[in-house]
Amino acid sequence: MVRKVLFPVAGFGTRMLPVTKVVPKELLPILNRPAIEYVVDEALNSGFDSFIFVISYGKEAIIDYFDVDLGLRSFLAERKKESLLDLIKEVESKVKTLSAVRQKIPEGLGHAVLSAERLVGKEPFAVILGDDLIDAEPPCLKQMKELYLELSAQTENHSLIALEEVSLEEVSKYGIVEGERISDNLIKIKRMVEKPSPEEAPSNLAIVGRYIFHPAIFEYLKRIPKKGGEYQLTDAMQLMIEEGYPFYGYIFQGIRLDTGNPKGYFKAILHYASKDPELREILKSFFL
Ligand code: UTP
Repeated sequence: MVRKVLFPVAGFGTRMLPVTKVVPKELLPILNRPAIEYVVDEALNSGFDSFIFVISYGKEAIIDYFDVDLGLRSFLAERKKESLLDLIKEVESKVKTLSAVRQKIPEGLGHAVLSAERLVGKEPFAVILGDDLIDAEPPCLKQMKELYLELSAQTENHSLIALEEVSLEEVSKYGIVEGERISDNLIKIKRMVEKPSPEEAPSNLAIVGRYIFHPAIFEYLKRIPKKGGEYQLTDAMQLMIEEGYPFYGYIFQGIRLDTGNPKGYFKAILHYASKDPELREILKSFFL
């Protein structure tokens, strides 16, 4: 079983500065809900029941958001704001088991994942990036969890990561994989390269923000060198592949919205607004 899900949310979010100087990018609203709530919903709807957050200085508000605010509850109750009270209770009841660990210095995604080693323990676990929203039915992580369990019947010690086809101009923003196609949407990965140039890229299949890892990843994260001040998750995965741990890539079904940069953030808002009948009318009125 894969029960635990890790949310590394300790980065500085520099692409969204200046707002991220005071507001974590994971709390920026997509309509009236913070981005992190969309990925928490994805994990809940994928059957996860143990949530681990990797936070850093100034990002406590991310976990406070899911905690019970008794002061706010009594304020709303005294004023008979029943529907708002229900709304707050709904958010506060989402995450039943929440643990958090601090990454004191943001030394990269690999280092953020390693910070959670003691909370995860020795079991397979999922990782979701808090700024990579995926609108999909069934939820992306659920698709992956089912596939991971199916793969367990044929293989062991494996990991599964989400892949998306990107344009050649974009490969240098991602980890890119090379592998053998097992089916239309499943790849057995042979090699990964972090942020290659279009000439060096072995394919246009990019690693995106969903992973299910074998717990051996922690040992490998301890072995990789720091590059450009960061420990790259891709380097640890590549080393695991070299030492015989099977890695599979899944080209998920769904729409990915990267809220970690201004254009992607704007697109995410438009995407979710266009799904709401009232907001869609407002959007249309802009273009008449
Ligand atoms: P990003 O590279 O997208 O986030 O990492 P960032 O570093 O915060 O943003 P930029 O590049 O400066 O704009 C993906 C995820 O990994 C987390 C981030 O919070 C984000 O959710 N992360 C990144 C950490 O938890 N710790 C780190 O040291 C780096």
